[in-house]
Amino acid sequence: VMHAVALTKRLREHDPTTRVTVNACHPGVVNTNLMRHTPAFWGPINKLISPFLWFFFKTDNDGAQTALYLALSKKVDGISGKYFSDCAEKSVHSLAADLNACEALYNYSIEACGLDKSAID
Ligand SMILES: *[C@@H]1O[C@H](CO)[C@@H](O)[C@H](O)[C@H]1NC(C)=O
Repeated sequence: VMHAVALTKRLREHDPTTRVTVNACHPGVVNTNLMRHTPAFWGPINKLISPFLWFFFKTDNDGAQTALYLALSKKVDGISGKYFSDCAEKSVHSLAADLNACEALYNYSIEACGLDKSAID
């Protein structure tokens, strides 16, 4: 979310007329086989809970809906630097409202990843 805020500011400063938007989204808890390499999810426990997963987890199709909504819906046209879950904007931690903190995290990330700052500005 903080990166979405910082990147929105950069994009708007670079080109105030840009139609590019950047938002953060949570897909929800989706039943994928992402945990197949996590030993805690193998064996008898997995066999025991797997018949009930559908009740607590979203399908991959359902999990894609918020990302698709942000990419395709006219309802979010021009909205940038926000956080979405279940196809709706949600409130965020107060740090995401602190533009200086968002920029500091963005700057730190560029440095920590060894990226060339001048190429990104
Ligand atoms: C982040 O880096 C930019 C230059 O790329 C600088 O202008 C800005 O002051 C920095 N912001 C923070 C909070 O460090």
